[in-house]
Amino acid sequence: MYKNVRLVVTLFCLLLGVVIQLQAQQNAYHEKQRLQFHFSPPAHWMNDPNGMVYYEGEYHLFYQYYPNDIIWGPMHWGHAVSKDLVYWKNLPIALYPDSLGLIFSGSAVVDWKNTSGFGKNGQAPMLAMFTHHSMEKEKKGSIDVENQSLAYSNDRGRTWTKYTGNPVIPNPGIRDFRDTKVFWHEKSKQWVVVLAAQTQVQFYASPNLKDWKLLSSFGADQGSHSGVWECPDMFPLQVPGSKEEKWVLLVSLNAGSPNGGSGTQYFVGNFDGKQFSNDNPADKVLWLEYGRDNYAGVTWSNAPDGRRIFLGWMSNWEYATKVPTTPWRSANTLARELSLQTTPLGLRVNTQPVANMKKLRERSYSIPTQTISSSLDLSKTSGLVPTQLEVELEVKLPVDSKVNWGLELRNGQGEKYRIGFDAVKNQFFSDRQQAGNADFSAEFAKKIHVAPRESQGRLVKMHLFFDVSSVELFADEGKVVLTDLFFPAQPFSSIALYAEGGSIELVKGQMWALKGIWK
Ligand code: FRU
Repeated sequence: MYKNVRLVVTLFCLLLGVVIQLQAQQNAYHEKQRLQFHFSPPAHWMNDPNGMVYYEGEYHLFYQYYPNDIIWGPMHWGHAVSKDLVYWKNLPIALYPDSLGLIFSGSAVVDWKNTSGFGKNGQAPMLAMFTHHSMEKEKKGSIDVENQSLAYSNDRGRTWTKYTGNPVIPNPGIRDFRDTKVFWHEKSKQWVVVLAAQTQVQFYASPNLKDWKLLSSFGADQGSHSGVWECPDMFPLQVPGSKEEKWVLLVSLNAGSPNGGSGTQYFVGNFDGKQFSNDNPADKVLWLEYGRDNYAGVTWSNAPDGRRIFLGWMSNWEYATKVPTTPWRSANTLARELSLQTTPLGLRVNTQPVANMKKLRERSYSIPTQTISSSLDLSKTSGLVPTQLEVELEVKLPVDSKVNWGLELRNGQGEKYRIGFDAVKNQFFSDRQQAGNADFSAEFAKKIHVAPRESQGRLVKMHLFFDVSSVELFADEGKVVLTDLFFPAQPFSSIALYAEGGSIELVKGQMWALKGIWK
């Protein structure tokens, strides 16, 4: 009798376990606030994208990952791959902390000529170069906490072996010394690393990825220094209409971005294999983005057709560990293509969503061209809701217009989010002050975020992507970008095009419902 009861209880527990697991699997990627067409890990904490490299038909995305909680903790490299930068497949953790420390941010390359000697059977190895961060040294108050190390893979990034000679760039006596971005510099025929060293970057060179020598430093007196420099990236981009190339140096900065907290500045100039020189005055600060939720972004190595594809972490250190999501925390921005553009002020970096995003377009609706001087409920006419939505708008402003126009998202809870253009201030804006839960941090929704317009003329263009709890604005064909999160209590269920303080002429308006990327 007792035996039978035990058997029944055991069977019941097993069944319950299976049901709970199935339920969790079904809910995965469909929880409240979960983004539907952006990459986020199935569960737990993520920050910076790492090791982005294209190899044998796959875009690899590694990321700062703490697999035991939804707050920052001992860092691993999580891993996912994509064939098209739109759909992602999760893979097992690639790098675990070891006796040298946690695995902080870094990059990856394909060592085509096997300069490292890690190749096998004539196959080029993949090399990851990352920062080892020692918690033991940090606790002791030592300076040499951060050192640069290598790992390699001979099976298309599926498994990784750490180099026995690590670290390959020992700490030279700089406390913040991290985030290696490695690339092959064809002109000087050497590997070059750019890394963040306190409030500047340093360049190192190597013939074989193992032996490194310091080349130079850049930035002590350049750009913004309102925070520590992190996660640099450097790459050449074609000057439009010429054969000339310029080098772009991205530097993430925590804190001090235009609307507060973490952000990314960039420099345009030359790199001669030794030193980077800035084409702009030392005190000129160029921002890659004006939203508050795009940080630590870097670009893919080895992307096909020389394309320069960028992806950032869609959060901000001011509140990242507190945002109301569970069982995961943080997503990435959409993959974006960077290019140079000639402007009256000089060369500027332009950002556009990758063309493959069009794959997600489902139902489409053309907004009839018209003059708008109040509010037009687009959900009513289109039947589309702003949870997974792409919108393209072209608006002509009257001469000397004082109009404030844009899109307003609402839900049944009376919450609203606005994104648009203020003609008086000549700036784009994003207002999440009444867009839902902001109690988790006093920093999250304390003001309207603004971005100066960089184009002239009366035709203003906005291209937007709304996911469940995020928006990405590419304004005036990618001259100004703004990425923001919001956390409505219920998903936004309506979207309206409004104009206040004047009228606008809608020249073009198109909307698409977007498919989700998770099953
Ligand atoms: C940037 C950063 C990097 C560091 C990593 C640690 O967000 O602080 O500088 O390598 O995060 O997770």
